[in-house]
Amino acid sequence: MLFQCFVIVPLLFGIFYLYSKYKLSYWQRRGVQVPVSSNLIFGNFTDTLTFKKPPGKVLQDIYESVNSEPYVGFYIFHKPILMIRDLKLIKQIMVKDFDIFSNRRFGGDYEIDSVGLINLLSIHQPGWKYLRSKMTPSLSGLKLKRMVPLMTNCTIPLVDFIERTKINDDGWKEFELKEISSRYTTDIISSIAFGISTNSFDEKNDEFWRAGQRILTGFKRGIVFLIFFFIPNLIGFVKPFCTEPADFFRKVFWNSMNSREKLGTKRGDLIDSFLTLKNGEQSSDFKFEDDNLLGQALSFYIAGLEAVSSAIAFSLYELSRHTEYQSQLFEEIKIHLDNEELTLESINKMELLDQVVNETLRLYPPLPMIDRIASKNYKLPGTDLIIEKNTPIYVSINGTNRDPRYFNNPDEFNPLRSKSAMQEISSSSLAFGLGPRSCIGQRIGQIMTKVAIITILKKYKLSHKTKDDNLFSSINVFTTAADGVHVQFKNRKD
Ligand code: HEM
Repeated sequence: MLFQCFVIVPLLFGIFYLYSKYKLSYWQRRGVQVPVSSNLIFGNFTDTLTFKKPPGKVLQDIYESVNSEPYVGFYIFHKPILMIRDLKLIKQIMVKDFDIFSNRRFGGDYEIDSVGLINLLSIHQPGWKYLRSKMTPSLSGLKLKRMVPLMTNCTIPLVDFIERTKINDDGWKEFELKEISSRYTTDIISSIAFGISTNSFDEKNDEFWRAGQRILTGFKRGIVFLIFFFIPNLIGFVKPFCTEPADFFRKVFWNSMNSREKLGTKRGDLIDSFLTLKNGEQSSDFKFEDDNLLGQALSFYIAGLEAVSSAIAFSLYELSRHTEYQSQLFEEIKIHLDNEELTLESINKMELLDQVVNETLRLYPPLPMIDRIASKNYKLPGTDLIIEKNTPIYVSINGTNRDPRYFNNPDEFNPLRSKSAMQEISSSSLAFGLGPRSCIGQRIGQIMTKVAIITILKKYKLSHKTKDDNLFSSINVFTTAADGVHVQFKNRKD
């Protein structure tokens, strides 16, 4: 027994050590630089896998661990991943050679969570191309124009809630912005994607919002998202936590679809489009039926809720800290609105508003990374590197958006910044991704964000309230403020 302890255990450790060292030398063997240290078990993801740093921050650290290299290799456990950090190569992979890099690593076996995984975000080719081509018209310019009144309806409970909130001793009203923006965003998406009217600011009527929070918040769900994004081969372990929240949404969605089909009415929302797709011709690549349809509505809800509520919260936060831009934006809103109803045309005329939202998303991209997988061996143009089939390719949005090579004073909030090197590949930053697989909700997401900012700024002055800005949460894949985003409002008339 003693012999076994003294010989076999060290032998096993020795074998594991040599095996790990070999696995963790994959990039060096190909002449690719890696961050200085890596853990024998966790690779370069120790801080995320031990819940010390959010993955977005760890990816930014990896991005910044080299200087002028066009790419850097790293490991999640022993899985080799290549991070691209040169704009031309990012464009080459995401746009020009999209056919080779059209799948994401995100997701996993559809069987495990059909609702959570058979959707635009995670579906692979050839299903993705067909699904995207069918979903794109449902967010066309004309459809978005018709959705703006549905959105402005949702600002009524938001303003009511702000009005009802008590004033503090200094005459201000204090808010945690992520919570109110997620309630407002829930009301919009439940209206647009599920065809129902909710008031998430009314505690007796906020079931939809609470169901969304069950998907997006809490430790268990944090782990689920970590696995979806970064360790998809482990997805089987979290199966019980994946499927549970779908039942509520399934009931709401099909009630709405069935009653709308019976009545034959149109509301200008996505239910109109889903019914057309359900009753249209079907393809062998993708069938618009059962959970396949619910999956699209739910993925819009999840992707939209987190990203838009975060964009609203951080935009208002930056405006509360930069009163000069706040005043200029208020003037712009006054000029273009002047007691008129809010329309897509008036929103599109507000240039500073557009710059404020883009600059906020540059600094606080709700999703901090983009990922793709090589579908075959690929020689990276201008280099000798062969990217092997099935190698995951990551772009750190935080790293690229805060790279001084691409933006002057990158950590500064400056919506008026002059054109940057980034404009070679994207009109603002990488916050919405790039190429044919970039965010399908970019325009609707921007409009939802802008409607909230206009509504609030038109009526209230903002002042900065966060105690000691801890703007990054350790467990969340999405960019989330650990202690919330605190801002004070005062009615402009007071
Ligand atoms: C401020 C708002 C938003 C931001 C910053 C954002 C960001 C992103 C990013 C970075 C991606 C990955 C892009 C890539 O891989 O190149 C993405 C994909 C996606 N987003 Fe958004 N998003 C926002 C709003 C929305 C909204 C409102 C919806 C739903 C209506 C939505 C639905 C999606 C979907 C379905 C995909 C997957 C697209 C595909 O693979 O074809 N997003 N988003």
